[in-house]
Amino acid sequence: SKPAILVARAIFPEVLRRLESVFEVESNQDDHLFTPQELIQRLQGKAGALVTGSSRIDGAVLQACPDLRMVANMAVGYDNLDIPAMQAAGVLASNTPDVLTETTADFGWALMMATARRVTEAEHFLRAGKWNKWHYDLMSGADIHGSTLGILGMGRIGQAIARRAQGFGMQVMYHNRSRLSAEQEAQANQAQYVSKETLFRQADHIILVLPYSAASHHAVGEAELAMMKPTATLTNIARGGVVDDHALIVALRERRIAAAGLDVFENEPAFAQDFLTLENVVLTPHIASASVKTRRAMADCAADNLIAGLLNGQAKNPLW
Ligand code: GLV
Ligand code: GLV
Repeated sequence: SKPAILVARAIFPEVLRRLESVFEVESNQDDHLFTPQELIQRLQGKAGALVTGSSRIDGAVLQACPDLRMVANMAVGYDNLDIPAMQAAGVLASNTPDVLTETTADFGWALMMATARRVTEAEHFLRAGKWNKWHYDLMSGADIHGSTLGILGMGRIGQAIARRAQGFGMQVMYHNRSRLSAEQEAQANQAQYVSKETLFRQADHIILVLPYSAASHHAVGEAELAMMKPTATLTNIARGGVVDDHALIVALRERRIAAAGLDVFENEPAFAQDFLTLENVVLTPHIASASVKTRRAMADCAADNLIAGLLNGQAKNPLW
């Protein structure tokens, strides 16, 4: 008989049908958000699960779901999975790297540029009927071209962002747990490895692309924001929790930095509503990987992982 799986969130119907050809599938096409207790209940008797960041798989879940053998996460970030606990329980885990790298890098640029050039603030101004005359500094922002880009977290996405900086004549500096090889640095628009402090003090535009973990919790807080130039911008396409949102709200309100572009927040989707009171922030609902083509590729990648993991005992993109 076919192994039973849970697809914990709504997904492309075509991908669901592909999974149904291999597995006995319990799906959630009405996209109801499971409580932790419901998730455990739905996972009873399931050998596998396709989940997103909204499903937390930790020691308690694993203990309550002894039939579980594989969890495929439809995301590159996997802070919702307790990998050591999964490894200890022998439950395979996978993510969806590579397929979203270029799309996410594109969005990092879109958000950074919208932030520097005040695109959404200017649109709100226009829509509110406030545009009645030309003014010498109307919605003047910060230049991107010729400026210094600081990338915190230099994985695949960070390097893809760095490559795009060439066309804008930017100097690229980065900080990462480990330094890239000389060849990788050359390919990343001659990116210069610097200390975290140098990056925060010298960059004109800072973009965050590091994974969330206990080690990166509040990697950007009051101290880092205080180091930034008052003209600098901060863009976060990494994860909520990498930034101390309360400290950022204070820095933006007091104009200690120029502006921020945020695709991710602490406690999504119930993010800090004080952000809505600020003009110098561009806010998007965690969509950096959301191109039509890439979301489909992510779903296919997660499905491929689940099929390979459950049928062959080896995921394509294993996390342990
Ligand atoms: C989205 O945030 C992802 O990690 O893929
Ligand atoms: C994700 O793919 C990263 O390594 O940045």
